[in-house]
Amino acid sequence: MGDLKEGLADALEGARQRSLGLLDPLSEADQLAQHSPLMSPLVWDLAHVGHYEELWLLRAVARTRPIDPAHDDIYDAFKHVRKERARLPILGPAEARRHIAMVRGRVLDVLDKVELDPAVPLLSEGFVYGMVAQHEHQHDETMLATLQLRASPEPYPYGGGPAAVPPAGAGTEILVPGGPFVMGADGDPFAYDNERPAHVVDLAPFRIDTFPVTNREYLAFVEAGGYDERRFWSEAGWAHRRAEELAAPLFWSPAGGGSWTVRRYGTELDLPLDEPVQHVCWYEADAYARFAGKRLPTEAEWEKAAYHGAERLFGDVWQWTSSDFTPYPGFRWFPYKEYSEVFYGPDYKVLRGGSWATSPLVARTTFRNWDYPIRRQIFAGFRCARDA
Ligand SMILES: [Fe+2]
Repeated sequence: MGDLKEGLADALEGARQRSLGLLDPLSEADQLAQHSPLMSPLVWDLAHVGHYEELWLLRAVARTRPIDPAHDDIYDAFKHVRKERARLPILGPAEARRHIAMVRGRVLDVLDKVELDPAVPLLSEGFVYGMVAQHEHQHDETMLATLQLRASPEPYPYGGGPAAVPPAGAGTEILVPGGPFVMGADGDPFAYDNERPAHVVDLAPFRIDTFPVTNREYLAFVEAGGYDERRFWSEAGWAHRRAEELAAPLFWSPAGGGSWTVRRYGTELDLPLDEPVQHVCWYEADAYARFAGKRLPTEAEWEKAAYHGAERLFGDVWQWTSSDFTPYPGFRWFPYKEYSEVFYGPDYKVLRGGSWATSPLVARTTFRNWDYPIRRQIFAGFRCARDA
């Protein structure tokens, strides 16, 4: 195998080791359980990444026949919502591991022989292999979000969380000068369709927080009664707040004299004051920004700031932006509409950067993540901006 093929095989192997490493400490029952209606059973995610790999690296690349046609229904994320998946005839933990290992074996045989033809967009620079490795890492992050919601007396042994922001850094801002910059992906062979094409965007000057907002800063909003002040909230955010669908991700714990805590992997921890706040939804980020006399950055501002000295863009929390998820001018879906195109519109807000659970294979300046503004099971925080 050449260097490129070896790199692709390593990327696939790295993702697989991570997936199995996340699930191996869990009981069979924990892998099969529906830990939250928002999330799939963990073993569904595991077999689904194998099915996706079969679809793209065997059926699309080598025109193989389906290994088990029933999987096209069971493991299609669009055919069954997450809360139904525990009732499907899914593979059990041992069967799923055998199945995905068998798929992987065939994939490596195909990779050995395939010509990565630069004239074929799917194969050029190994795009489709990068897509499949990224997909598995994205599911690994989803599995970590599931584990975060799992109620269990036994702590989950996997570490991980945002790193503390230097106290002197919290609340500081950088000034980003006005003018044009190139937004979106140009040369990155693994960039997704929604990151393309690169295009020039002209922005007014603005200020943006150097670091993501910390628990200490967010606690000030909570303690000031921010959740009960109509003026900080958008209309939709206030409606969710009144319906009690929103409560702060920081908890007051009366035990032991009283302290603020967060839940991590089902266990309560003393509030790490200097860590970026996580598990806030878009409505909360938007309300906090108003409380602070600021606003959320647009995704174009976030991306421009990434080239101008903003810190902790990756490795701590995803960062909500004010932008709806919309196509760039000249967008063309590739290689399938269901990755991005079907999600475009006002229902989803864009998150940028990457969290502590995001693989470096996925974390890049142009990467666009998106979710409903009410969602908070993802590892999401935010930074604020304001006009200069
Ligand atoms: Fe998927």
